[in-house]
Amino acid sequence: MGATTPVIGRTVEVRVPATSANLGPGFDTLGLALSMYDELEVTAREPGVLEIEVSGSGADEIARDATNLVVRSIAHVFADAGIPLPGIRLVAVNGVPHGRGLGSSGAAVAAGVLAAQGLLAGVVELDDAALLRLATELEGHPDNVAPALFGGLTIAWTGERGPQHKKLLVHRGVSPLVLVPGYTMSTKAARSLQPPQVPSEDAVFNVSRSALLIAALTQSPDVLLDATDDRLHQGYRAPAMPETSRLVQALRAEGYAAVVSGAGPSVLVLCDGPGSRLEAARLADEITDTPWEHRSVAVDVRGGTVRERAEGSSSQS
Ligand code: HSE
Repeated sequence: MGATTPVIGRTVEVRVPATSANLGPGFDTLGLALSMYDELEVTAREPGVLEIEVSGSGADEIARDATNLVVRSIAHVFADAGIPLPGIRLVAVNGVPHGRGLGSSGAAVAAGVLAAQGLLAGVVELDDAALLRLATELEGHPDNVAPALFGGLTIAWTGERGPQHKKLLVHRGVSPLVLVPGYTMSTKAARSLQPPQVPSEDAVFNVSRSALLIAALTQSPDVLLDATDDRLHQGYRAPAMPETSRLVQALRAEGYAAVVSGAGPSVLVLCDGPGSRLEAARLADEITDTPWEHRSVAVDVRGGTVRERAEGSSSQS
């Protein structure tokens, strides 16, 4: 009996949230799951089959072959488990803005890893640590994939036992606003602007703000402005996204805790209530002369989910 036999014919449904990484000072470490979702249905088919349907954000740019990031992530988990890869049918409806610093690649990786976990259930069991390890191997850094997998606010780090995470629940007063421009920014290009070394006073500055940010997001939203200050990445990357940088600075000058979301170009504003979120959105409209889409979102506390679709049921309602 071929090792893929038990999984062929299985269909799983996966849902993964958007994420905002860094949150100002927490470069490559902090991440927040947000209530915008990619929804996928993955079926294990006979070996050799590859069918991909994508709609929603970025659908035109997404690969429909074996280089598709969700498919590569599924393949990575099967290879790691030593199980031959079955054929794949993938239907994805993407609600996470693509290429905008809201974790679209982390969501694709998390979706692939979760789909593989669901397809392999009862054959190979994957715990949270394995999911984070596999996802980080694909993504390169854990700050998006940790909240995409586990939800909430995550602190992620890589130690002797590989990538680890701690999930925290965010204070209910924190009201995130995401401002999304009409253009994309490549994470690779943003990372190429990072210097190999930083002044020690800047490192100390970010250590203090990151520590404060955990308190601000979990207990004391009143200190969010100071807590979201950064000297380790946003300044170096500003020349590549001047409009983003201008908007962040202008909102901060008015007292709003605005940061570059991930590697940009979106802006995340961590407001201390729905009223100040409305004010921040109004101010953003006044400051900018190009259109920015406003998304008032919640913190997703659940993270990515996977469930097997019962035989005979259909995703069509
Ligand atoms: N921490 C990452 C960066 C997030 O800023 O480069 C983007 O993937």
